[in-house]
Amino acid sequence: MNGYTLIHLTDTHLRPPGELLFGALDTWARTAEALRAAARYRPDAVVVTGDIADSGRDIYAGAAGLFARAGRELGCPVIVLPGNHDVPGTRAWTAEAFTGSRTDTGPGPGNEVHFVGGLRLVTLDSDDPGQPAGRLTGEQLHWLDAVLAESAPDGTVLALHHPPVDSLLPQLAGRGLARPAELAGVLAGSDVRAVLCGHYHHAVSGRLGTVPVWAGPAVSYGQDLFAPPQTVQGLDSSWLSVIRLDEGGFSAVPVPLRPAGTVVFSRAAVHHKAAAHPIAAHPIAAPLPGAVPAADTTRFTRPLPEPARAPGHPYRQQPLLPVSQGEPVAAP
Ligand SMILES: [Fe+2]
Repeated sequence: MNGYTLIHLTDTHLRPPGELLFGALDTWARTAEALRAAARYRPDAVVVTGDIADSGRDIYAGAAGLFARAGRELGCPVIVLPGNHDVPGTRAWTAEAFTGSRTDTGPGPGNEVHFVGGLRLVTLDSDDPGQPAGRLTGEQLHWLDAVLAESAPDGTVLALHHPPVDSLLPQLAGRGLARPAELAGVLAGSDVRAVLCGHYHHAVSGRLGTVPVWAGPAVSYGQDLFAPPQTVQGLDSSWLSVIRLDEGGFSAVPVPLRPAGTVVFSRAAVHHKAAAHPIAAHPIAAPLPGAVPAADTTRFTRPLPEPARAPGHPYRQQPLLPVSQGEPVAAP
């Protein structure tokens, strides 16, 4: 079974150009920054799990242009599905804007099948308009069941906006996917290797039956997990997640795109031969004489780059994207 690296973005909350989210956050710049940072990991695909727009703003033509350009420069598909902020009527999925790599469609926009090599990615629209919780209809579940009846060569990743696991915050109770057991029943015995979600604006991992679930932290802003009771507060933070699938299973690493603090030490790393890839090697180990710096990346379809050696946020020292002419991925 081949290995894959996915970049998982979620909750970009794009507003019309010139409008800042909460009067403070340039979510176009954050989304472009996340796409630039994705280049560091040489992904096999980028998956964006909903709330592309903020409050249904009609930004989809611009978003489709940005994602299409990023896909060209990254050399991989950018797979996009809707969230609860992508209200019906302005969803660009009906305008075929985000459908570049799909091979099949289900009942309604946002329910799609994509293939990346032998890995199948299935997207679902989990929004239940006007309701706090997400839902999957019987029609969607039947379609998913039919799709999964035939296994993909390297398995399947399922992506939807509403997590089938609870938030840490009591304030967000009842806002995940309703009736997760129904989805668990469809996934039981299938080749689904992971479920990717967003929506909570904080990271949470869990399990649906035996399938790992990752709800990624948001590109736009973070949820304050110390918010007073009966209050929800947004924090100025921006994240992507690096998802790895290999023979041994699944991992998800949340990566902050805003500096989370100052550098308190920096020294040479030792890469052990058995390390899966350089970035995951032990960063705090002291250098040893005769250490072997190269790591085995053969399990992944695309080798990972060496980490940047300059201090600070490493991706800032990288070319914007591998085939970029030096021109930034710009907001419209
Ligand atoms: Fe959101």
